[in-house]
Amino acid sequence: MESGSMFCVLILLISLCGDIHTIEDREYWRKIAQEDIQASLRLPKYTNVAKNVILFIGDGMDPATIAASRIYRGQLRGENGEENSLNFEKFPYVGFSKTYNTDRQTPDSAGTATALMCGVKSRFGVLGVDQKAIAGNCESSKGAEVDSIVHWSHAEGKSTGLVTTARITHATPAGGYAHSPERDWEGDQDVPEGADCKDIAYQLVHNNSFIKVLFGGGRRFFYKYNELDPETEEMDADHGRKDGRNLITDWEADKKSRGAKYMYAWKKEQFDAMDPANIDYALGLFEPSHMQYEKDRNKGPTGEPSLAEMTRKAIEILKKNDKGFFLMVEGARIDHGHHDNIAKLALQETLSMEDAVGEATRLTEEKDTLIIVTADHGHVFNIGGYPLRGNDILGIVKSTDEELTDDKLPYATLVYGNGPGYDWGNRTNFTDADAKRDGRLQKAAVPMEWETHGGHDVAIYARGPMAHLFHGVHEQNYIAHVMAYASCVGQNKDHCNNPHTEPCVGIGNNNYVSLIAIWFALSAFFLF
Ligand SMILES: *[C@@H]1O[C@H](CO)[C@@H](O)[C@H](O)[C@H]1NC(C)=O
Ligand SMILES: *[C@@H]1O[C@H](CO)[C@@H](O)[C@H](O)[C@H]1NC(C)=O
Ligand SMILES: *[C@@H]1O[C@H](CO)[C@@H](O)[C@H](O)[C@H]1NC(C)=O
Ligand SMILES: [Zn+2]
Repeated sequence: MESGSMFCVLILLISLCGDIHTIEDREYWRKIAQEDIQASLRLPKYTNVAKNVILFIGDGMDPATIAASRIYRGQLRGENGEENSLNFEKFPYVGFSKTYNTDRQTPDSAGTATALMCGVKSRFGVLGVDQKAIAGNCESSKGAEVDSIVHWSHAEGKSTGLVTTARITHATPAGGYAHSPERDWEGDQDVPEGADCKDIAYQLVHNNSFIKVLFGGGRRFFYKYNELDPETEEMDADHGRKDGRNLITDWEADKKSRGAKYMYAWKKEQFDAMDPANIDYALGLFEPSHMQYEKDRNKGPTGEPSLAEMTRKAIEILKKNDKGFFLMVEGARIDHGHHDNIAKLALQETLSMEDAVGEATRLTEEKDTLIIVTADHGHVFNIGGYPLRGNDILGIVKSTDEELTDDKLPYATLVYGNGPGYDWGNRTNFTDADAKRDGRLQKAAVPMEWETHGGHDVAIYARGPMAHLFHGVHEQNYIAHVMAYASCVGQNKDHCNNPHTEPCVGIGNNNYVSLIAIWFALSAFFLF
C-alpha cells in the first residue's frame, strides 16, 4: 500500500475510534449515551449450547465494593476514577440476585454456595444439602444431599475445576463438591466424635476424585497431625488429620492407579512447572490456611500464584476436553478484607479478581463459553459523604463548609455498618495519609469483632450463550439452573434434544441496518 492510502486508512481509523473528549461537556454525555444505545441495539444473543461455563464468585463483592474498586483502579492509573469500568461491567447482560438463606435474611457463604452451584437454596452454614438438614446435625443431613453443577457437568463428560484464594475446603468451593450440614467440618478433627459424616477434605479427595483442577489453600486438613508442613516445617496438631491419612498421597495414588498424568504443587515454582499440555489432574495447595492477600503474595520465601495465573492454568488444562468444562473461580479474600473493616484489602482483592476475569475472556470465545461474574452476598459496606469528583476513594471526604461533620472532625468516604472499626465514641482528627495507610480500619457504626455480611442484592454479570437469561431480579439459585440450561447438563440436559450446533446470534431489524451500513462503508473504503 502506498503511503497516501496508508494515511487515509489512518484518518479513517481515527475517525472510527471517535475523537477523544477531555471535557465532559454536554456533547460528551450525549455522545457516550448515543454510543451506548447503538451498542445496546447490537447486543449479541447467543442461543446455542455453551460448551464451557466459568462461574466467578467474588466473595462479598457487592455493588458498593464494585463501585469503589472501579474508582480505585482508575485512580491507580491517575484518573478521576468514577468513569472507569471493571472489565466484567462491560459484559452485555446484568441481573440481580436475592441472596437470603432459607432461614436467614442475611446469608452466609455456605448456604449461598449451595444455591449458586446446586441450584437449591438452603440454610445458613450448610453445604450441598437442602433445608431438611439442620446446621451441625449429621443425622439430619442423611438424604438431604443435593449435587452441584460440578457433578452434573462431570456426568456429561465435561472436565471440572475449582480455583480459590481461600482454603479449598472453605464454604464457597466446598459448595461445588461436598455434602455437609456444617461448613466448619473441613478436617476430620472438626467432625464431632461418633458422627457418621465425613469431613470436607476427605469428601473432596475420596468422593470427587474426577475433578481435574483444584487450586487454593488449606493444606492443613490434608496432612496428618504429626507431619511437618512443607512450607512452615511445623506440625499442626490442632488441624492435621487424625485418621492416619495423608490426603495428598491418597490423591496421587488415585491418579496413578488410573494411569493419569497428574501433579501436586504447594509453591509457586512447582505451579509454574505445571505444563497444561502434560497434565490431566492438578492439585495446588499453596498455604496451610487461606492463600495470602494479593499484596503479600510474593513476600514469603516460596511465593504463590495469583488468582489470574491460577485461572489461566486451570482453563489451559480444562479446555483440552472436546466436550468442554465447568470452572468455578472464587476471589475469596474480598470478604476477609471487609470482615476486618479494611476496605483497601477488599478493593485490592476485587482488582485481582478483575484480572482473573480478563484471563478468562482472553482464553475463551464468547460464542461458546458462558462467563458469569457474581457475588455470594454483600457486606455492610458503603461509599458516603459528598466527596468531590476524583476524591481519593480511600481518603477523607473533602467537604464544603456546610457539609462538615457536627463535631468538625474529618471522616473517610468508605464506611461500615458494623465491625472492629467502631471507635467507642472517641472520634479523632486524622489526615488523608492516615486514612490511606495499609491496615487502616474504616469506621463502623456498631461494635463487632468481625463485620457481618449484608442482606442486600448482588449483581450478576454475564456474557456468552444464554447470558441474556439474566435480565431482572432473580433468586440466587436460578444461576445454577441457567448454567445447566446453557450447557445442557443436570436438570436441563433435555434442552439439548434440539440443539443449535452453530452459534446463533439474534439479529434484529436494527442489525440489518447496521450490516447494510457496514457494507456501504466497506465498498466506499475500497473505492476510495
Ligand atoms: C464416599 O466415598 C466412600 C469411599 O471412599 C464411600 O464409602 C462413600 O459411600 C462415599 N459417599 C458418597 C456420599 O458418595
Ligand atoms: C485537624 O488537624 C488539622 C491539621 O492536621 C487541623 O488543620 C484541623 O484544624 C484539625 N481539626 C480539628 C477539628 O481539630
Ligand atoms: C481515643 O483516641 C485517642 C487518640 O487516638 C487515644 O489516645 C485514646 O486512647 C482513645 N480513647 C479510647 C477510650 O479509646
Ligand atoms: Zn464472609
